[in-house]
Amino acid sequence: MPHDKLIAGNWKMNGDIKLIEEFVKKFPNIKSFQNIEVLICPSFPYLGQAFEAFKRLGIKVGAQDCHYKTNGAYTGDVSSKMIRDLGASYIIIGHSERRDNYQSEDSHIFEKVKRAIDENLTPIICVGENLAERQNNDTEAVLKNQLKIFLKNDLKEVDFVVAYEPKWAIGSGQVASLPEISKTHSLIREIISQAFNMEIERSSRIIYGGSVKPDNSEKILKLEEVDGVLIGGASLDPQDFFSIVKEFKKV
Ligand code: 13P
Repeated sequence: MPHDKLIAGNWKMNGDIKLIEEFVKKFPNIKSFQNIEVLICPSFPYLGQAFEAFKRLGIKVGAQDCHYKTNGAYTGDVSSKMIRDLGASYIIIGHSERRDNYQSEDSHIFEKVKRAIDENLTPIICVGENLAERQNNDTEAVLKNQLKIFLKNDLKEVDFVVAYEPKWAIGSGQVASLPEISKTHSLIREIISQAFNMEIERSSRIIYGGSVKPDNSEKILKLEEVDGVLIGGASLDPQDFFSIVKEFKKV
């Protein structure tokens, strides 16, 4: 069965209680919007508060990461169960900022996806090439390599999202061109379909991230291959974020 489209905001290490309050004041209630899921992923400390505040608006909350173990002596880390307890329904996993900043990220990604699934949280698995890889025409090989781990393992019964976020487009103001987005999303779908049956291949969502703003979102969202967007900077402003949600409704 086809899924609702997903519009997700990743607040990264930004935002605070004031921003949550500002959303409550300025972001319209979208509970009556059909075929669309709207999600905000704040930092861990605000998850519970964001969940309580945003459920009245019809916005779900998710985390930006989780630890790869269920529990234990991991000072400063946060488990998927803790995230679930605070009301989250999604976890972003393998964001390029984490892959770049934490050397062990790549080797723990599949474990993190499993921890999310253990708690009935939908993983948003981030993939994408960097500028040098793009210039060397290595995008396909990079994506295959990043997705290999999931395809080797049994995710057949699982609801998951793949976020295509080319690293060079994140926070740079440079967006992948529309044909590039279509082509890459089709490629990701093909990689997934080679491992899974058609039903799973259709129901998994592939979303785009990288400098999505109100002025470019409409064209991106109109692409048949795009099942949603993952937004950084523009998700920190309730009016900008709502403009993008509104575009989606039109599409
Ligand atoms: P920007 O929208 O700020 O480019 O960030 C994209 C991103 O990294 C979302 O996860």
